[in-house]
Amino acid sequence: MALMQINRRQLVMALLANTALATGCGNASRPRSDEAEFLHGVASGDPGMDSIVLWTRVTPRETAVIEVAWELAEDPDFSKIVAHGITATAEEIDYTVKVVADDLLPGTTYYYRFQCGARTSPPGRTCTLPGADAKRVGLAVVSCSHYSFGFFNVYRAIAARDDIDVLVHLGDYIYESSADDSGSGYGAEQGRELGREHEPAHEAWQLGDYRARYAQYRRDPDLQALHARMPFITVWDDHESANDCWMHGAEAHDPQTQGSWYVRRDAALKAYYEWLPLREPDDGRPLWEIDRRYDFGRIASLYMFDTRKSGRTRQFSYSTDLRETLTPFDFSDPERPVAIQDSEHLERLPQDAIRQVRTPFDVRGESPEPVLDYARIVQLERDGLPPGFEYWPDLERTRSEFLDDPSRRILAVEQETWLENEIADSVSGGVAWQLLGSAVVMASMPAPDYTQVFPESLIADSLRNPFTQRWLDRTRYGLPISMDAWDGYPAARQRVYEILRRNDADCIVIAGDSHNFWMNRLHDAVDGQVVATEFATSSVTSMGGYEWFGDDPRIFELAEQTMTTHCEDVDFFDARHRGCILLELTADSALARYLAVDTIRTREYQTREIARFELTKQRGGARGELRTEIP
Ligand SMILES: [Fe+2]
Repeated sequence: MALMQINRRQLVMALLANTALATGCGNASRPRSDEAEFLHGVASGDPGMDSIVLWTRVTPRETAVIEVAWELAEDPDFSKIVAHGITATAEEIDYTVKVVADDLLPGTTYYYRFQCGARTSPPGRTCTLPGADAKRVGLAVVSCSHYSFGFFNVYRAIAARDDIDVLVHLGDYIYESSADDSGSGYGAEQGRELGREHEPAHEAWQLGDYRARYAQYRRDPDLQALHARMPFITVWDDHESANDCWMHGAEAHDPQTQGSWYVRRDAALKAYYEWLPLREPDDGRPLWEIDRRYDFGRIASLYMFDTRKSGRTRQFSYSTDLRETLTPFDFSDPERPVAIQDSEHLERLPQDAIRQVRTPFDVRGESPEPVLDYARIVQLERDGLPPGFEYWPDLERTRSEFLDDPSRRILAVEQETWLENEIADSVSGGVAWQLLGSAVVMASMPAPDYTQVFPESLIADSLRNPFTQRWLDRTRYGLPISMDAWDGYPAARQRVYEILRRNDADCIVIAGDSHNFWMNRLHDAVDGQVVATEFATSSVTSMGGYEWFGDDPRIFELAEQTMTTHCEDVDFFDARHRGCILLELTADSALARYLAVDTIRTREYQTREIARFELTKQRGGARGELRTEIP
């Protein structure tokens, strides 16, 4: 356990000094550099103006301390080396190798590679963040890359371009799900069909599981090619640890069989830092502190922040958090209680004559009708509700007592303070755009009643699946369609909007997680003003939510039409493609191109731009008019 307390830097120093660690992690034998291979490629990331993190992993034949040399050059032939060094790795950090190359020039392309004995790693290409003279920056924005759902064609398509400087991964870089259908076999069936079954086969929940999962993903040639091609800026979402996680647990974590959530969380984070090219928190700081700001000259500040482990309160749960509808009854005559239907009646009664009664509803008509006959209520309660009757929830009370509670958060108090300070600093420094890299979607998306939208004949098969049936039924309440996104935390979202408005930020939110493409105009809940624009990317591979209802194109058309008309924030919705967003920024404009791949089921694919949106400073920036092109 003491190992978790030692950071990578201390460990590497100890390995290099060839001393046994005081905490007893083993007798560091002489560093060896023979017989180790590079099977997981190279990577770079967490760029600064004068520094960059370089990454690789070695696979030794037997347990040993391995010495690894690295070099960084100005040219792909490595004839002009500008930095080099020697580091070491060992089992304690899963043989991953991470170094920070510094004293570099801003906005400069570099090439790097590692050496271990006679073996040389494949070369990588990277760049530093640009300085104030930057004219243009090209970002590719991705999320949700489940290995089993398909080939990483989206990664390959980005790696093949020459207009992208930095890859922004908004999370779900790996998935913890199992390869069998027991428990969390999300994607298991597709994995079997494609020969891309998760390793290990069980749900990842311990350190060794997460490490093996990263190792599997990093043997993928397309992901390797993308890492070798450009630096990554990353943040985790939930699946790097467990589905729908929050500060003190996760929907997919069972303390009975999997033990303490905090142990699992720390194992997941340790593996994340081992396998991804980013700096680790300073000594003594908790592992979940990943919040950071990246400046692209005066063009944009990009904020990346944890939305899971620092301050998030538990998600709304339909099984425990819906408030019941209660009707006050006049019990003056205990033999014949009467529903109180007006306030005058209520006011003239003594308190002890009033009782709140749980109210069944007849839901067979246009809108749910409460049953107010007391004898009938008692009878329904006793015999159980027949088909067509339900205890319809009190949605107003559900909102006011639970959803809108200001103590519910996505960001910790300190994160909100950090965000405000960094945004104020960026705006006052004359930076054109403030980009929020949000793992989850920010827009307001009240559910349309999908039981009325989809004709039964269209979705007949999925109605036999209890999961989809339940999901459909719940849309009748009109609550947020995703309770795990910002929409499930409206007060926390409003606080972010207030930060943006107080500081006059020109804010673009880039978001992941939903497995669909969106373009949203974010409206302040109080005065309805547009406060920002959201470009939300689809998944690299993970299955879109509406695919649960089949593959009839009419399903997607109906969902897309309904969401754009029903939700004020939603201006564009694509429910059928996997892909990424290419974001090209200058000090005057922000151009988002939504790039889709036609398939993830074969290695051959085509890309197609399905939408293009442009904001310009002249037309009011992210709160102004938006130019849309949908081919
Ligand atoms: Fe995802």
